[in-house]
Amino acid sequence: MQGTLDGRAIIVTGAGGGIGRAASLIFAQAGARVVVSDIDVGSGEETVKQISAQGGTAMFVKTDIANEASVVALVEQTVSAYGKLDGAFNNAGIAPSHKSFHDISAAEWQRVVDVDLTGAFLCMKHEIAAMLQTGGGSIVNTASALGVVAVPSAADYIAAKHGVIGLTKAAAVDYGCRNIRVNAVLPGLIMTPLVKEALRDPEYASHFEKYKAQHLVGRVGLPEEIAKAAEWLLSDAASFVTGHSMGVDGGWTTV
Ligand SMILES: NC(=O)c1ccc[n+]([C@@H]2O[C@H](COP(=O)([O-])OP(=O)(O)OC[C@H]3O[C@@H](n4cnc5c(N)ncnc54)[C@H](O)[C@@H]3O)[C@@H](O)[C@H]2O)c1
Repeated sequence: MQGTLDGRAIIVTGAGGGIGRAASLIFAQAGARVVVSDIDVGSGEETVKQISAQGGTAMFVKTDIANEASVVALVEQTVSAYGKLDGAFNNAGIAPSHKSFHDISAAEWQRVVDVDLTGAFLCMKHEIAAMLQTGGGSIVNTASALGVVAVPSAADYIAAKHGVIGLTKAAAVDYGCRNIRVNAVLPGLIMTPLVKEALRDPEYASHFEKYKAQHLVGRVGLPEEIAKAAEWLLSDAASFVTGHSMGVDGGWTTV
């Protein structure tokens, strides 16, 4: 049976983490050749190992998405290994500094914006340039439900994720006529290492039950539930979808 992403060369950033690993495994099951990229070597290599164990094709490229030279190398190594770049899931990100607005230092603000917003820009910029060489492609960015709503003590992250939605729309407008589709997934709360780490912060933990209850389905999500949405957006099944921000949030942002 043909997979939805058969033979496609697809970059996944943050592929050592919760959502990125689930996406890498699911894209590989759908037939993609996955470029597993992460700043953390051990977790990225583990993702490649798991893809190989299930009979899929993948390679690891260590990447810091906040560093332009590193992103350029990621795209170059992809094209060099697989001949072209068909798709990208720009998913790597870091958590908010979890401080009240007026307590966030300029350095803390800059770090979150560098990774969560500038990182997405740099990846899109160089992926699009490569896709233009070979006739097009499809990009999915991981924004967040916090790209459309706000919660306490996350101003840096909220601003960055609102920005990712803006970047998604801007690129969709610029490249719609050149066969490059650009969409975003907006996860609700997903139980991943990022959230487990955030729960160590007493203030975040004190709000957690309330956040959980805001999901209409009454639970937090699984990484695979975001990965399946990204797979669909990357595939030809979504051929008429671009510039879209898809909530995958158990209904959180509906109310
Ligand atoms: N988990 C959630 O509830 C949730 C909700 C909404 C949005 N998101 C977003 O989903 C994405 C994935 O989050 P996750 O929950 O899987 O987190 P995670 O911490 O499990 O994974 C994130 C991965 O990104 C990598 N990374 C961090 N900085 C990087 C950098 N500069 N360059 C390259 N890789 C880097 C980490 O090493 C890690 O493997 C993030 O963009 C996050 O903001 C998560």
